[in-house]
Amino acid sequence: MSAEYISHSIEETGALAKKLARRLSPGDVILFYGGLGAGKTTFTKKLAEGLNIKDHVHSPTFTLVHEYKGDINLYHIDLYRLERYEEIMNIGFEDYVYSDGITVVEWSEKLGEHYLKGVINIKIETIGENERKFTLWSDIKSYNEMLEDVVKCIS
Ligand SMILES: Nc1ncnc2c1ncn2[C@@H]1O[C@H](COP(=O)(O)OP(=O)(O)OP(=O)(O)O)[C@@H](O)[C@H]1O
Ligand SMILES: [Mg+2]
Repeated sequence: MSAEYISHSIEETGALAKKLARRLSPGDVILFYGGLGAGKTTFTKKLAEGLNIKDHVHSPTFTLVHEYKGDINLYHIDLYRLERYEEIMNIGFEDYVYSDGITVVEWSEKLGEHYLKGVINIKIETIGENERKFTLWSDIKSYNEMLEDVVKCIS
């Protein structure tokens, strides 16, 4: 089971992210899949706006993790520069994932076989200059229902 949404603009991506933000709870984890320039950071910026985070959200590529204080704290992690699972563990990955904030992970492909259960997965595919295909899914039924609902609301 998965939900799909085609975005034709940054605004439509923002609408999806903000709708999702309103449905998230402390401890939720979002794993992003999708290559360079897919829109992971763009989505996260709008998600942060939706969580009432006032700070400007930057790409965490060089710092690996950014922490933002909001109604619920947001932890924005980028695994792009990490290769080995040990390196991922060394940034305190599990502390974020099992925290009561919301954790968003760019380049989740790097988790390889160590993928996480009980999370929200979002794959972003570039299908045109401004078009992106979002596929959202989870192994948890209630998350899948919520994700379908979110997509239905903006489609
Ligand atoms: N519909 C769309 N949704 C999201 N971004 C879009 C869309 N159309 C065009 N873009 C552009 O695509 C780019 C997405 O860049 P962004 O930094 O968010 O990607 P990323 O997935 O985080 O890449 P990286 O792997 O380098 O971190 C931005 O320049 C954005 O303006
Ligand atoms: Mg990025």
